[in-house]
Parts: sequence; C-alpha cells; structure tokens
Amino acid sequence: MPAQDRIAEYAEELTAIRRDLHEHPELGFEEVRTSGIVAEKLKGWGIEVTTGIGKTGVIGVIKGNRPGRTVGLRADMDALPIHEQTNLPYASKTPGVMHACGHDGHTTMLLGAARYLAENRDFAGTAVLIFQPAEEGLGGARAMIEEGLFERFPCDEIYGLHNSPFDGPGEIGVKPGPAMAGANFFDITVTGRGGHAARPEATIDPLMIASALVGQLQTIVSRSVPSTSPVVLSVTQIHSGAAYNVIPEQATLCGTIRYFDREAAEIVARRMAEICDGFGRAHGATITLDLRNVFDVLMNDPDHSEHMLAAAAEITGAANARRKTDLVMGSEDFADMLAKVPGAYCTVGHGGDVPLHNAGFVLDDAILPVGAALLARMVETRGAAA
Ligand code: NI
Repeated sequence: MPAQDRIAEYAEELTAIRRDLHEHPELGFEEVRTSGIVAEKLKGWGIEVTTGIGKTGVIGVIKGNRPGRTVGLRADMDALPIHEQTNLPYASKTPGVMHACGHDGHTTMLLGAARYLAENRDFAGTAVLIFQPAEEGLGGARAMIEEGLFERFPCDEIYGLHNSPFDGPGEIGVKPGPAMAGANFFDITVTGRGGHAARPEATIDPLMIASALVGQLQTIVSRSVPSTSPVVLSVTQIHSGAAYNVIPEQATLCGTIRYFDREAAEIVARRMAEICDGFGRAHGATITLDLRNVFDVLMNDPDHSEHMLAAAAEITGAANARRKTDLVMGSEDFADMLAKVPGAYCTVGHGGDVPLHNAGFVLDDAILPVGAALLARMVETRGAAA
C-alpha cells in the first residue's frame, strides 16, 4: 500500500498526538515532555532510539530490508513564548507558551513517517529521524551538530519541512538554491553618564545617542551594501531608563540582520562597528557591539530539491508541487544541517489563515498525513537511489 494511503488510515491518531503536544508546549531546550513522548512512541514501534543529543534532541534509526543510502529526516519540537488566544479546546495549558509555529505538527508528521517506515521496512537503506530542540533562535541544530549528530549518524542526504498558512492546502513548495536568509543577532550597549534630567549638560545622555544610532544604522543597507544584494537590518528593542526625571547611565539596542551573501553580511558588520565606534567618540560615550551569527543561509541542493518535488507530486499531484523562486528573508536553523549534509527543505500549505508566530495561529490537522507521507516517501525513493 502506498505510504500516503497507509498513513491516512491512522490520521486520527496523528491528530490526537498533535493536539496533545499542542496542549503541552515547551520552549527551546526544555522539550522534556515532548522528547519523552517522541522516544516512547519510537520505542513502541520497535525503533532504535538515542536521546540527549543537543540536550533534548532525539534520534531514531530505522533500517530497511535491503542495503541503500541513509536518508535523514528532521523535525523541530519547540514552542514560542506567546500566550495562546485561539480558544481551541486543546489550546496551550501553559500560560505564555504556545506552539504558534506548528512545530507540534512537524514532530507529529515525523512520528507518522516513523510508524509507517518501522511497520513496513520495505525500503532500501536507512532512515535517520532527527527530532531537534530549540529551532526558534536558540541554536538547537548547532547544538546537535556540535554533539556529533552527523558523525554518530552519518546521512547521505537530509530533508525537512515547514507548514505554511500562506500556501493553499496540499501545496508543497521548494525553492532550489538559496532559499532562506542567514541571520545575525546584535546587542549594542551605549554607556554615557547618568544624572538629573533638568541638567543634561552635566550628563552624557545614552538615550539621545541610542535613538540617533537607530537612524544611522539604517544608512548601512541603503548606502554601503550593493543594492543587488538583499539585506535587512532591523532594530527591534530599545531598553533604557526608569524615571521621568533621571537621565540613565546606559541604553541598549538589539536587533537582527538578514542576508543571503556572506560578503554583504561582513560589510554590515564592519560598518556597524565603525558607526558605533565613531558615535561613541563623537559623544564621549562608550558603545560596545556584540554581533553573532545565529542561522546560516538555507541552501537547497538543486538535485535534492527536484527529488523532493517529485515525491511531493506523487502525494498531492504535480500541480500542487511548486518550484518556488522567491527568496524568503526569514531564517530557519535547518540551514545549519543543510550546510553539513546536502538535502532540501519544503513548505507544506494548509487551511489555516493566521500567520505563524501569531497568538491566534491554528494548524490545520489535515496536513499531518500529507507531511508524514512526504517524509516517508523521501526515504523510500532516495534510499534506493544509485
Ligand atoms: Ni517554525
């Protein structure tokens, strides 16, 4: 029986798993209950399980009934610090934490593929199931890689997916080549001299310097980066002060840079350092810049993108398997795994209409068997590849 037909038979069970995970969301590196459920389900289906890679990461290994290639499949497990406002009967029971990016669905899809592959074993090669923690900016993929993920479980190719409320139900999209932006995060600390608000001449006002700096930073992308290279620089936080009549000692700015070209990212880093340094000297303040890389550019291997589209076409029809062309300025930490092992990452559209990371986000459970079947087919089709 084709993967999609067999998995459809236990779609209700997948919905129940997904809703249970949804009710009990956990933040990055804290996915103790979630990873416990994952490990227990995998063991129940007779799958070899390794836990504790990247703190709460879980690996399952399923060998097919004949030799072949090793195909890695990855799902993320973490939730976001958002207070759910959906009023769903299975809404988050943890105040301030919500599966608002649908990672509960991704985890469930990979469990669905795992059950199918373990029950049937009629495939060449080996499936390595990677349940990763902390995708939302905390570096879960890097943590697993640093703890020897691909040395301990070498993969010939890897695949991952993300649900998309922006695409129609059943639409599966892959952008071959560079697909999602690399990301740096930054913290800038402006240290001046605090004092009475009525006597600014006796202070070095870090708020005035920090607010002017926000505008100056916006000149980097428009004046220093080649206009052919897509780059975003956003200041997303300003913190300072606690009283109406006190000029504070310090102000901090935080934000993110998104890029596709590493040279452009280096130009931004250099100009930020120069502007911070010059601004500090001009105003007699000390400005420190802490800039760090968080996500690599997500590169879909062109050949593996085609393999994924071919599997997608089998499951949702050729018209629904879309070769995308748009670059996405959002980031995804599967990029760090794709930098080590070639593969591809796709979007799976669904019936929800509230954006990801919104307190009202609802994942359409109808995509669970679609995503599970796609992941299973990647093993069945690629394990046997020459
Ligand atoms: Ni996500």
